[in-house]
Amino acid sequence: AIFGSERPNSKGLNMNIAAESRPFFAELDSFKETQWQAAPLVDGSPILCGDEMPVMSPQKLDSQVGKVHFADAATIEKALVSANAAFDGWNRTDVEVRAQAIEKLADLMETHRAELIALCTREAGKTLQDGIDEVREAVDFCRYYAVRARKMQGEPTTLPGPTGELNELFVIGRGTFLCVSPWNFPLAIFLGQVVAALVTGNTVIAKPAEQTSLVAYRATQLAHEAGVPTSVLQLLPGTGALVGGTLTADDRIAGVCFTGSTGTAKVINRSLAGRDGAIVPLIAETGGQNAMIVDSTSLPEQVVTDVVQSAFASAGQRCSALRVLYIQDEIADKVITLLKGAMDELHVGNPALHKTDLGPVIDKTAQENLNAHIQRISKEGKLIHQAALSDECGNGNFVQPTAIEIQHIDQLEKEHFGPILHVIRFKAANLEQVVNEINSTGFGLTLGIHSRNEGHAEKIADKVNVGNAYINRNQIGAVVGVQPFGGQGLSGTGPKAGGPHYLTRFVTEKTRTNNV
Ligand code: SER
Repeated sequence: AIFGSERPNSKGLNMNIAAESRPFFAELDSFKETQWQAAPLVDGSPILCGDEMPVMSPQKLDSQVGKVHFADAATIEKALVSANAAFDGWNRTDVEVRAQAIEKLADLMETHRAELIALCTREAGKTLQDGIDEVREAVDFCRYYAVRARKMQGEPTTLPGPTGELNELFVIGRGTFLCVSPWNFPLAIFLGQVVAALVTGNTVIAKPAEQTSLVAYRATQLAHEAGVPTSVLQLLPGTGALVGGTLTADDRIAGVCFTGSTGTAKVINRSLAGRDGAIVPLIAETGGQNAMIVDSTSLPEQVVTDVVQSAFASAGQRCSALRVLYIQDEIADKVITLLKGAMDELHVGNPALHKTDLGPVIDKTAQENLNAHIQRISKEGKLIHQAALSDECGNGNFVQPTAIEIQHIDQLEKEHFGPILHVIRFKAANLEQVVNEINSTGFGLTLGIHSRNEGHAEKIADKVNVGNAYINRNQIGAVVGVQPFGGQGLSGTGPKAGGPHYLTRFVTEKTRTNNV
């Protein structure tokens, strides 16, 4: 079956077509001074608990974007009690009603696209193109999961049985889900998790990343406006230690959906395992140590275009991003020369400008850690090239796109979540060793392969343990319903986001046998 054809994906916006881009830029401009706010939204009411904290922009540290209040213990309890009480009614609501609310949310996001993109740019430092793609992906998740839920829950499945016996299988929600989302896709992953849980009949407590509460708050308001009852979706901006720690240890949480680091996923897993109550699912989408293998039959120009996209787009802050480029000796010098030139073409600067390729990294800690890694690893290996920062970068959290030659993937003690590409040369005779090295990291998210040797790339894709293998293209930007996304091993539990099986872990089943 062609799952992608079940509903059209969002068209997004083509900035090269003046008739589309002119009104968009005009509207975008109207949000350049806007101050947003975020606070826990319990039953739809903002709770101004704790201190009011300013939210500053990552590209201009003295520029305020808004203010936020973080949840305290009493607010967490209130949200949980209300979400639990709302579960039975929402779970019994016809899936058609739930799906229509989620589809309405998709429509509202398209209506408010410019504001959402402005928020992504100013709060998270996303480039305009990334902002456009972010809204498009969020819209796609809504429409895709609405279609999948109707298929899965619309009618019970009738099963065979002896004459006079009616066997039916019902698919229903599990309870109150905790959704914990990251800052790198503050709208798409935030909403992807939330709508998957909601449309299948669960109530949700959403805990967005601390760095991107404003986007999450606006998205939650739109979900309520679209018809998701306020008791059914509760928002708790706050710290992982308090909100995450309290809720994962609480027996009233019926499942957790998490995207973030492998380390935090393990902490959540231990917390869930230590509870007295029911055994509940953890859906975790975590890190990677993503490689690309380039053999000597590849087209160097195409390789370089795809490497630059995969390693440096979104300032390397995608879990799918390329970290380690394995390149066959015979072609290495040529590719590296072209790569330096292509890196010099990158414009690193103000993410709100159309010409910008890379914006800032998310915060000072990230910037410092990435720069420290560049210092350390270029001493062990050899610095190939660093692209310049433009004058717009000022005091923002910018990191120079950097390529460094190293000897072995083991030199990378962990995932470095930024615009840093590591390059390793290999000999054709050692290809199997390369495959084993990549597998030995234990991560398994994305893999890129470039080869024009027929059948060769498919064989490599088969041997490397990853969730998403891309041949002769870049390895980022999975499309909902087209490239279901998610990893194996240290990279996540599956099932894949934007894929036909994703909703299955948000539900439970009831078989009813009736001796009629
Ligand atoms: N889904 C994103 C991508 O494919 C990564 O999080 O790039």
